Amino acid sequence: MIPVAEPDLGQKELDNIIKVVKSGWISSKGEFVTEFEQQFAKYCEVSYGVSVCNGTAALHLALETLNVKKGNEVIIPALTFIATANAVTYTGAKPIFVDSDPEYWCINPERIEEKITKDTKAIIPVHLYGHSCDMDLVMNIARIHNLWVIEDCAEGHGAEYKGRKVGSFGDISCFSFYGNKVITTGEGGMCLTNNKEFAEKMKIMRNQGMNSNKKYWHDFIGFNYRMTNMQAAIGIAQLEKLDKFIKKKRQIAKWYREELKEFEGKGLIKLSPEMAWARNIYWMYSILIEDKSGISRNDLMEKLKEKEIETRPFFYSIPQMPPYRSNEKFPLAEELSKKGLNLPTSCKLGKETIEQISNGIKQIMRSGRKV
Ligand SMILES: Cc1ncc(COP(=O)(O)O)c(C=O)c1O
Repeated sequence: MIPVAEPDLGQKELDNIIKVVKSGWISSKGEFVTEFEQQFAKYCEVSYGVSVCNGTAALHLALETLNVKKGNEVIIPALTFIATANAVTYTGAKPIFVDSDPEYWCINPERIEEKITKDTKAIIPVHLYGHSCDMDLVMNIARIHNLWVIEDCAEGHGAEYKGRKVGSFGDISCFSFYGNKVITTGEGGMCLTNNKEFAEKMKIMRNQGMNSNKKYWHDFIGFNYRMTNMQAAIGIAQLEKLDKFIKKKRQIAKWYREELKEFEGKGLIKLSPEMAWARNIYWMYSILIEDKSGISRNDLMEKLKEKEIETRPFFYSIPQMPPYRSNEKFPLAEELSKKGLNLPTSCKLGKETIEQISNGIKQIMRSGRKV
């Protein structure tokens, strides 16, 4: 089976892990944690990094740090991974959903203002599948309405907006280092911020709220959201390769585009977008299966599976699912969710495999119709 994603781990990760094991510092104290925080923040052009145990914890920690609580509302896209909504819910606040942009699939900035009320406290733009949100528009709305911005960069390590790295725009930005992410630490996450006070508060809050000058004194209720030295050791080795990974993912995207553009031209599929102002890192190269193709997304997935090609359906629009069910319609998010497919985008894949996958898609589509 050609996997949709797989980690690319090497000798350096192994050497670092051996160092950690030999040192005995396998929990959250140890040299790699601070080093990883500093290096990752620097890579993203942000002043401070606060590592945590996963991306969901990063979002929760950011929201808590900005004092988001019961009675507040937080604006998020309808089409994202459930963690974005859940982190808001953990604080007692209510996620308020906004439909997708028709061109690049992230939150539609033109539909944000109509959702702002007196209770709105923050916006969480999500850089979906590696493509940046339109950050000028999002930041402008936040400025006018005095709202916090928390960037969800779980799928966007190294992605750019107008030449600047995502994660450097919001008040706090959150990353995930789960195994299928561009770089991984197994499980893991990071909050970045240019605000020293927020960084200090996050460091205390991730450590059970323990006062940094007075051991075992707790000024507020915190969490155990710490990253381990083992995770950070892998993270540092991965970070060295991040630019190489991005280059490869962009190459894979180019191969897919070359192979599939003919089908896009015929209106049968739509390929991963890249707006003029964005540098997509193609965390997962994606296509939409248009009605005109005569095959459903699910049938295509089934047939690709028979050819030993793993694919992933797009997320469901969150308000379609039981915990957040609503009668409100989010037509674009729902359409994307029905038509969208993530193709294998692992950095280990070569040109022949991308051709094999693309040929598989073309063959399946051709067999059902005359193209
Ligand atoms: C958009 C988005 N936000 C948040 C998360 C949560 O990250 P984690 O799985 O590390 O908790 C993920 C990924 O899994 C994600 O894709």
